[in-house]
Amino acid sequence: MIRIVEVGPRDGLQNEFTTLPTSTKVALIDALSETGVAEIEASAFVAPKWVPQLADATEVFAAISRRPGVIYSALVPNEEGLDRALEARADRIAVFTAASETFNRKNINAGIEESFERFEPVMKRAAAAKIPVRGYVSTAFWCPYQGPVAPEAVVPVARRLLEMGVYEVSIGDTIGKATTDEVRRVLDLLLPIIPASKLAMHFHDTYRHASDNVRVSYEMGIRAFDSSIGGLGGCPYAPSASGNIPTETLVATLMKLGADPGIDSNALDRARNLAAKALGRSLPPTA
Ligand code: HMG
Ligand code: MG
Repeated sequence: MIRIVEVGPRDGLQNEFTTLPTSTKVALIDALSETGVAEIEASAFVAPKWVPQLADATEVFAAISRRPGVIYSALVPNEEGLDRALEARADRIAVFTAASETFNRKNINAGIEESFERFEPVMKRAAAAKIPVRGYVSTAFWCPYQGPVAPEAVVPVARRLLEMGVYEVSIGDTIGKATTDEVRRVLDLLLPIIPASKLAMHFHDTYRHASDNVRVSYEMGIRAFDSSIGGLGGCPYAPSASGNIPTETLVATLMKLGADPGIDSNALDRARNLAAKALGRSLPPTA
């Protein structure tokens, strides 16, 4: 069974020059709720000084129409973020760290070790509140500051997130540069120690490698993928990164592989059109 995590309202909008009005974000999330995706990462409870585009996460969560069966999640970097996420009744949260020390410092002002220290109370309190937690490993292939990342650096970070209690680890190609061989090498190391059912792939599409990388991951047994409507996205602290694989491209890629992601293509078109109109620009063609 395929699981698509739509990250456009978070990964997409965090990197847009224009901050959309809360009501437009809500309309986009509501439109995405109709598409058949399993989960929508609706916003991030991060410091507004760091990501002003998502400062209204609380208001967004209060105004969306929650469709039964769809999970509405959010990024949480620390306990302050958890407090806000609990108050907003996020269904799930995601903590995020990286395989590259420099990226982590630029992104969350903490090294890898320190990020785990921050997660410990977050994990304990999320467990007490019965909120499932996802974990991200960013820069699993390339770092915008350090260059290539050794596949061996990904393993301890992913393993430690799982030991802390995350239900799934999303492996991030933050700057969209990984090749199929690089994806194979990382998965070759991860899959013997982590079941495919606990892994997701998060491909940005800067060099248009994402569709091939989805194919390779799928062939190796991965069934959960992150994507962003219209390919919106990037990370403000990874300057060379462009958006995630467009959800439209992900769906087409999976269907070519004979998988049924269970997505309503008309609803997906409506969400894409809404995103383009809201941002006032045409979105790149998708295949
Ligand atoms: P810091 O400046 O070291 O934090 O940032 P601090 O604890 O010193 O706090 C500074 C101020 O922020 C304080 O306010 C805090 O209250 C406030 P002040 O006293 O100055 O008025 N603050 C908060 N406010 C609201 N919510 C919070 C929060 N935390 C502190 N949760 C921090 C450390 C982690 C907070 C900051 O670096 C941060 O928010 N970073 C997030 C950056 C980010 O969102 N990056 C993009 C997401 S990651 C990504 O895109 C990659 C991914 O897609 C996967 C991939 O592609 O690889 C997931
Ligand atoms: Mg990302």
